[in-house]
Amino acid sequence: MKKVITYGTFDLFHQGHYNIIKRAKAYGDYLIVGVTSESYDIERGKLSVHDSLLTRIENVKNTGLVDQVIVEEYLGQKTRDIIQYDIDTLVVGSDWVGKFDHLRQYCNVVYLERTKNISSTQLREKSNEICKFGIITDDVDDCGAVKETKYVSGIHVESVFSEDLTVAEHFCDKFELNSYSNDIEKFLSDVGIVYIKSTLEKRYDYIKACIEKGVHVICEFPFSMDIEKCRELNALAKEKNVALMENIVSCYLRAFTQFLWIAKSNEIGSILSVNIGMSNDFFRFVQSFDSMSVLAVTAVIKLLGTDAKYISKNVIEDSYGDVAYGSIFFRYQKAVARIEIGTKVDINNHLTVVGTAGSIVLQDDWWNTGYFEVHKKGRKKVDRRSFNFEGTGFRYLIQELQIMLRDKRYECNRLTDKESEAILKVINQIAD
Ligand code: CTP
Repeated sequence: MKKVITYGTFDLFHQGHYNIIKRAKAYGDYLIVGVTSESYDIERGKLSVHDSLLTRIENVKNTGLVDQVIVEEYLGQKTRDIIQYDIDTLVVGSDWVGKFDHLRQYCNVVYLERTKNISSTQLREKSNEICKFGIITDDVDDCGAVKETKYVSGIHVESVFSEDLTVAEHFCDKFELNSYSNDIEKFLSDVGIVYIKSTLEKRYDYIKACIEKGVHVICEFPFSMDIEKCRELNALAKEKNVALMENIVSCYLRAFTQFLWIAKSNEIGSILSVNIGMSNDFFRFVQSFDSMSVLAVTAVIKLLGTDAKYISKNVIEDSYGDVAYGSIFFRYQKAVARIEIGTKVDINNHLTVVGTAGSIVLQDDWWNTGYFEVHKKGRKKVDRRSFNFEGTGFRYLIQELQIMLRDKRYECNRLTDKESEAILKVINQIAD
């Protein structure tokens, strides 16, 4: 008996899918189809799959041509499947030409011409109303936002606003957008989501203008240094059913979220201490003590909560009066946290959580990570968790916003208002 296997997401099942399944079946007597799991698609950056795994499996089965359906869950699974199921031929579409040649050592690999003029992406774009995305900026750097939004279907960066019309025009040309403006009313009348990356002083007014117009907002942290003003904006956003999110990307990464769940799930017992080290070597641009503190303080608050009993900061300045090294100490009722930040000196980048029954370690650029290790007390074996993630991570924040809007949910549970207020309180406190 000749066994054939083929793989795909099979979202919004279409004629191209039917054709490849039919042609794959003709290569043998027994056809296995691997359907990608939701988490695998997210991991490889395919963020806008519409149908659930169950629906996609059902649609593949409904062709009546498939003998067995399996779920494809990780990179490299194809090799395992081919050996385990004793496959004779792997069939894939011509969009993958050359990508699976290394599997020729195990079976025949056949690339079939794709059916023309149809794809799940096209169907998703037709069914989704495209949401117009705008950027408010003071300079011509997009912080990677334009490229990142391209990975989330249904979102398109259309226009840019800057008070300085020359900046707006250059930005528009550089990132090939449709329009630019220095007239905020005009700019807001044609967008559904705005990303605000302007200086702190201007953010409050911009956010308010967006909310008044019913435009959803992603803004750099914080909205304002004034907690009352942040509260006012959050309340206004709720009243108007507008999503208002802070761009603290780690809160939207799968590895970081999983790490938080595990740390708080009693897997390593009760948390006793959080130790964080950060220095400038992992960043694209030089970061200030304050901007690095936001990432570290967010991690502490996510892990230990919003009710620290005591917080202190110590900085060492260089001969020019700039911060070269700083540390922040937190005392909670039953735990402590210590952050060390090297702005001009290199510190071992890490985040280590110590619990009564083990520890979790994130190495290197832990705020942007896809990997961590769980060490359990008394057990030699290390539990290694690895998650792929693509780009700067901003696309996962946009994806979360898109899901929130689809579900008509305007409050973000990845970073609550209470948590961001607590982060701001710490930032204010250590700024004094
Ligand atoms: N396929 C095809 N012809 C098409 C679309 C898909 O032959 N017009 C094949 C792909 O080459 C792949 C399989 O069907 O081998 C499953 O593809 P999948 O990625 O699920 O479908 P796409 O329509 O390509 O999805 P997307 O637009 O999300 O990439």
